[in-house]
Amino acid sequence: MSTHRTATVVLAAGKGTRMKSRTPKVLHTVVGKPMVAWVVDAVVAAGVGDDVTAVVGHGAEAVGTVLSARYGTRVRTVLQAEQRGTGHAVQVALAALPPEVDSVLVVCGDTPRLESSALAQLVALRAEQRAAVALWTTHIVPPRGYGRIVRDGGDRVRAIVEEKDATDAQRALTEVNPGVYCFDAAFLRAALPRLSTDNAAGELYLTDVIGLAVADGATVASMAVDGAITHGVNDRLQLAEAEAFVGRRIVDEAMRAGVTVHDPGSVVIGPDVVFGTDVDLGPRCIVTGRTRVGEGVAVGPGCVIVDSIIDDGAVIHAYSLVQQAQVGRNASVGPFARLRPDADVGDDAHVGNFVELKKTKLGRGSKANHLAYLGDAVIGAGVNVGAGTITCNYDGVGKHVTTIDDGVFVGSNSTLVAPVVLGRDSYVAAGSVVTEAVPGDAVAFGRARQTNKDGRAAVVRANNARRAGR
Ligand code: UD1
Ligand code: CA
Repeated sequence: MSTHRTATVVLAAGKGTRMKSRTPKVLHTVVGKPMVAWVVDAVVAAGVGDDVTAVVGHGAEAVGTVLSARYGTRVRTVLQAEQRGTGHAVQVALAALPPEVDSVLVVCGDTPRLESSALAQLVALRAEQRAAVALWTTHIVPPRGYGRIVRDGGDRVRAIVEEKDATDAQRALTEVNPGVYCFDAAFLRAALPRLSTDNAAGELYLTDVIGLAVADGATVASMAVDGAITHGVNDRLQLAEAEAFVGRRIVDEAMRAGVTVHDPGSVVIGPDVVFGTDVDLGPRCIVTGRTRVGEGVAVGPGCVIVDSIIDDGAVIHAYSLVQQAQVGRNASVGPFARLRPDADVGDDAHVGNFVELKKTKLGRGSKANHLAYLGDAVIGAGVNVGAGTITCNYDGVGKHVTTIDDGVFVGSNSTLVAPVVLGRDSYVAAGSVVTEAVPGDAVAFGRARQTNKDGRAAVVRANNARRAGR
């Protein structure tokens, strides 16, 4: 390959009126990622992400903030204060490009379905043919709203005609312009100042550059692509369609990479999730954020896992919610468990149904199998937390830590009033309210002593019957 240097321009200054939103259109998310980031990531994956310029206008500050948070200085933003058309937008971008750039890929910020391989092909096509411009085309029926591709008898692209400016015959054409082009930089620099606003919209149309290339006798190359990867988003219905499409692409990739997905249409996987081999995802799972799922992990139906690390061999049973938490090797969580931020379930540990952990470390092999709240707790290895155990971590003012050392047995329905420490191998009798430290190897009884009155049941029963008038 030669030493081509390709810059990419992302058009993102438009208003997106039909979204009916206070959020700039390109910041609406698709599977948790802003549309404009899908576009930039596709460009990066296509190998043309070294020099990316986003043209911003409406909501410029918000869009710029999101881009710089994600990409730092790798994406430059330029302001198109007034939106005078796509040709004007590219003109604004060109002014910011370094002179050594020899080709320019132009894409739109509201097209989250873009496929990187087809972008790379377009850039390669332009270089191979030394074309003034190479463009994607596709067939869309009905072609409403799109610029139409006009070809001559020899099937060569002659022009793109915007719908507003098209004749009836041109309007009937179903080959349309998806808005993805790669230009020879020198040609583009020379052509943009030649554009005029003499058209139905009174704008500078980038698409008119194609007609200029033809008039110059320069090469115009085109490449047919699947319409499904070109659709833009103009309203919330198209946003939902894009999300379904992109979401399914991620799920399909996961399956190809060795993840079993039951009822894939119902499963959502975020773009940044990393899976080991032989992961098994049940129906209606949602796994998103910076989540890592280890080898052989099984996730039951209806689980939601966000920004978490699930180690090899762990099982997350049905309907569990795991957020910013960690689950160790071969651990078992759920069904109906809730792991809140900074929950850390150790290797081989068990968290059962209706158990909630927050900022709590549950040591290796420890168990909290039923109905418990464990917050701000540091729990050692081999601990058994009985059903109904509650850490009282909050006194209305501050949060306090419960420390449970290795080997402790906490009887059912115990109330551990923090700050409190249960020493190694100690016992807490069922139903205790523990307010003081329990020394290692001790048994804590924190409950009223039971008394039995012999034969008293008949008296109670008679009293009750009298009160009921029977
Ligand atoms: C454009 C094309 C049309 C194509 C369609 C594909 C032109 C003249 N027409 O039409 O042939 O079929 O896209 O979706 O290019 N933008 C700016 N600054 C501006 C104007 C637009 O940044 O001054 C951005 C918009 O935010 C958007 C993109 O450019 O991301 C396309 O603009 P839009 O107004 O949607 O163009 P269309 O009329 O759809
Ligand atoms: Ca559009």
